[in-house]
Amino acid sequence: MFAPAKPPHQAFGGALFFCYATKGFVYNAEMIEDDKIIASADGIMRLDYVSFMGFLNETNRPPGGKDSMRRMAQNAFLTKDSHVLHSGCNTGYCSFELSHLIKCRVTALDLNDAMLASANKKSAKEPAPYCDLISFQKGDAHSLDFGDDTFDLVMSGGSTAFMKDKEKVVSEYVRVCKPYGFVGDVFLYYHTDPPQQVIDAINAELGISIQKWGKDDWVSLYTDAGLEAYYAYDAKMPVHPTDEDVKKYCATMVDQNGLAGDQRQVALDKLYGYMRLFNENHKYLSYAVLLCRKVPEKEQISLFGV
Ligand SMILES: C[S@@+](CC[C@H](N)C(=O)[O-])C[C@H]1O[C@@H](n2cnc3c(N)ncnc32)[C@H](O)[C@@H]1O
Repeated sequence: MFAPAKPPHQAFGGALFFCYATKGFVYNAEMIEDDKIIASADGIMRLDYVSFMGFLNETNRPPGGKDSMRRMAQNAFLTKDSHVLHSGCNTGYCSFELSHLIKCRVTALDLNDAMLASANKKSAKEPAPYCDLISFQKGDAHSLDFGDDTFDLVMSGGSTAFMKDKEKVVSEYVRVCKPYGFVGDVFLYYHTDPPQQVIDAINAELGISIQKWGKDDWVSLYTDAGLEAYYAYDAKMPVHPTDEDVKKYCATMVDQNGLAGDQRQVALDKLYGYMRLFNENHKYLSYAVLLCRKVPEKEQISLFGV
């Protein structure tokens, strides 16, 4: 039977902090200096999941990575005149990918200062014109600081799953999307009912509240907000790593950050705890790239499905 590993930060009991969706300690932009993050083993233990992955400089990709971004760009008909909103941008993987493919403008939003600092550092190293195409901004997707009908595409690379009130967030996506523009997401969904203990373990470790959502639940989240389902691409998770693969991955990720001694061991245990849990969860998951269109009027029903 699957027994979730307990990352060492659990040992901190009463010292756990809550930040929006995730549990743990959120590190600050000031903790980053010349791409090295100053933290003790103790500090590493207490980082929340998002901050910890940022600490390890993990490229936080959406499910399907580059392929998902190509599908989104092509199927939302983006051009260099398009303006995209990337919600929950983390360190900006999707923003960079879309700007590289299309040379369009991207406004990218996240709550986490350290993620934004890291994204801005990456952006500063981009050649022209890409260094000027993306604007990384702090903001909460529950209450977007943009006018109505602003963006050609409002997208999330899986971040909406991390947000507290998804209906509210999607209503904001719809509001700031232009008429006949697109709202897109790349989401993980359960193709098979997972054991409740896997869900409970993820929720406990990440301090979030994942539900056992299937594809239809995600599509309904968007269509119930008045959007028209326009394009959906479904895929199974491409690889199922062995425990050996997970361990190798964790060691490589930790070692590429030059950690040593206690810091290395704590980071290794913590990362392995998360990845072992995710690897178990992934057995039950598929992902989809979804694009929905903002239409002024609902389309008439069709008997033959077109
Ligand atoms: C795990 S990352 C996923 C990033 C995704 N893979 C991508 O490439 O776009 C989730 C991000 O959403 C951000 N986030 C969570 N709640 C948010 C909110 N209410 N508003 C804006 N960003 C939020 C987190 O800070 C985090 O960086």
